[in-house]
Amino acid sequence: LLAAELSMPSADGGVLSAFVGKKEDVVRSGRALAVVHGREVVVIHHAGAFYAMDRLCYHAGGPLYLGDIEDVEGRQCIVCPWHKYRITLAEGEGLYQAVDPRDPQRRASWGSKGPKQRTHAVHEESGDLFVTLSDLSLRRESDYYQSEEYQQVMRNA
Ligand code: FES
Repeated sequence: LLAAELSMPSADGGVLSAFVGKKEDVVRSGRALAVVHGREVVVIHHAGAFYAMDRLCYHAGGPLYLGDIEDVEGRQCIVCPWHKYRITLAEGEGLYQAVDPRDPQRRASWGSKGPKQRTHAVHEESGDLFVTLSDLSLRRESDYYQSEEYQQVMRNA
């Protein structure tokens, strides 16, 4: 894991991007932690693709960045170590397994709770990786664990 904060001015002036590490290092380690304009993110390399999302889990602030990767019906998910929530790498969707109480023997199907974990864009330039934060005006539940309010709670804990 590595941490970096090295701002890169964006082309349109409004997008928040930052250098997060060398591609070869992230491929080798599979993960990198970075701070992008004050936001803690994890960059993940999995099956040839790069993903970025908020570092802490939307459910209760668990260490999502340490989670295993699992295939859930063809969707690549990170599994939070605390309560085993499955979150899609690409969209940050929270998945759940629905059981029909009238037929509990039937194999439970997977459903989506919608986007819960904030994901971010990753792009490469000449072997360097950059993360661009997603639109912060659209609220995601993982935002709380990046907030000053949460930092205050942790300081007082
Ligand atoms: Fe991640 Fe509960 S904190 S599943």
